[in-house]
Amino acid sequence: METNMSSRAARAFFEAVPQNPTVLITAGLLAIVTAAVYLLSPGSNRAPALGETIPYFSNAYQYMTDMRSFLARAGKYLRSSSVVRFRLGPKKVYLVTKASNMQVLFRTTANVDTNIFFLMIQENLWASSKRDLDRFRNDPSGRLKNPAPGTEHIPAEKRYWAGLHHIFHEYLARTHESNALAANFQRQFAARLEERFPAGEWAAVRILEFVRADMTMAATTTLAGPRMLGLNPNLLRELWDFDEIAASLVWGLPKWINREAWKKRDRFNASCVRYLEDGWKDFDWDGPAASASWEPVWGSRYVRELVRWMRQCGFDKETMGGAMMILVIFGTNGNTIPIVAWCLIELVKDKDLLARVRAEIETTYVTDSATGTRTIDPQALVALPLFQSVFVEILRLHVSMNVTREAVGPITLGGYEIEKGAVLQAPTEISHFDEGVWGAPGHPAAEFWAERHLQYVDAVDEKGQVTRTPQFSMTGRSNDFFPFGGGVSICPGRFFAKQEIMLTAAMLVSRFDIEFVEWTTLDGSPSDRPAQNDVRWSGGASVPPDRDMKVRWRRRW
Ligand SMILES: *[C@@H]1O[C@H](CO)[C@@H](O)[C@H](O)[C@H]1NC(C)=O
Ligand SMILES: *[C@@H]1O[C@H](CO)[C@@H](O)[C@H](O)[C@H]1NC(C)=O
Repeated sequence: METNMSSRAARAFFEAVPQNPTVLITAGLLAIVTAAVYLLSPGSNRAPALGETIPYFSNAYQYMTDMRSFLARAGKYLRSSSVVRFRLGPKKVYLVTKASNMQVLFRTTANVDTNIFFLMIQENLWASSKRDLDRFRNDPSGRLKNPAPGTEHIPAEKRYWAGLHHIFHEYLARTHESNALAANFQRQFAARLEERFPAGEWAAVRILEFVRADMTMAATTTLAGPRMLGLNPNLLRELWDFDEIAASLVWGLPKWINREAWKKRDRFNASCVRYLEDGWKDFDWDGPAASASWEPVWGSRYVRELVRWMRQCGFDKETMGGAMMILVIFGTNGNTIPIVAWCLIELVKDKDLLARVRAEIETTYVTDSATGTRTIDPQALVALPLFQSVFVEILRLHVSMNVTREAVGPITLGGYEIEKGAVLQAPTEISHFDEGVWGAPGHPAAEFWAERHLQYVDAVDEKGQVTRTPQFSMTGRSNDFFPFGGGVSICPGRFFAKQEIMLTAAMLVSRFDIEFVEWTTLDGSPSDRPAQNDVRWSGGASVPPDRDMKVRWRRRW
């Protein structure tokens, strides 16, 4: 997850309009002001503008309420120009596509700022205190180890971006830490499977429902230790309730418009605050546990260091509760779980594919010579060609978000001049579906094709026999694929997420016999059609299926 926003906020806003004349008047004034600003701005080498029927209104309205139609329309323009402009209230927004432009957005340059998105999340999703938000807003020193030029006078403890980035990088993104998390997750999840499903017995489960409960438990215990669920027996419900309304919070609508969503956020936050306060009581910050890769109070080193740093910064309670919600529980599970569900759904749908992926996974098992326990080697797993191709294909089709940047000075993009103050957005739903990049004969970009990211290479063995071996490859396409965002703000959890997703799917398909039963709605009643992306999540990173798949499975060992 780089960021998370969506049209549900807008819908809530527009639904509230008829009852609230103030909203109407404000919207009207806004339109007049924007119109004035717009007419006064000079027109040099500017990107083409997206046409609209009601000036200053139609584009913004459709952008906020109907992402699909907006993108379909913008997509036509983007075929002939890689940058298209429109207005969102007072903001000038540029929609961006094409690998070369993405490289500019992801590069660290003085005039392209990445903070706009994070601050929006921090303000509206975490509900950070105003004081702490201002600490981030007023810190121009950047995320890197060395302060940005001209900001060297800012003391290390006031470099909030850099402090947080350091924790992400050292304790989440680093190979050593993400491997430790993966090993722990594998143990937790195996224990759950063995406890819930006695070997040899058939059980009926719904895939999305199952991963939302059981995988979330294993992942939460891995990251935050057993106290998180122990203290908060309703945490799972609070998390998935929050997941439903998270996007509606992003645009910062006041409580009187969005009451239900605020309530759900408060409940989730209260659980996170409870966890923090309980953990503070008797943890020895000078003892050996403080630097362990996992211990039962805070769980992973990532969470422990995050908590320690926030305390040292003197952040307010709500800021810390919010960070736990978003950076630990929601930001991880909200994105991994839908992807695992899709992965399993695609594998169960296609028996031949399932058999081939199973055979690949089999090669990654290692046996502990002392205990005889069989476990998957996560490094080998994430490098499997076919399974990795499936994983990437699922991300391509089921992650929907806008990489968002702000031009804090003038820049040139795709040959066009972009003015200071403009917002740049690159929607994955344009780049990830570009026929010219992803299409193949018989396999249009809009469809799942397990082998899309494989290349076959011929190898000659000692006997002179030629064998074709598949290799995973993103050559020539890597800048058109950005499910984790990019540049300095790229999702720090991407390595662990990949391990966790592939491990979960791998453990299930290799240890269970699985048979399709039927498609169901999310409440379990039979559905007359298969799952599609649940468009209510469009723009909010991972998009879950809108139907569930019921299967029968039996643990073999
Ligand atoms: C992302 O972009 C699409 C299309 O450009 C738009 O419809 C949607 O509202 C955007 N979402 C956010 C949260 O910016
Ligand atoms: C989170 O909980 C803390 C402590 O109960 C409270 O002070 C804060 O206002 C809450 N914030 C939100 C957004 O619910």
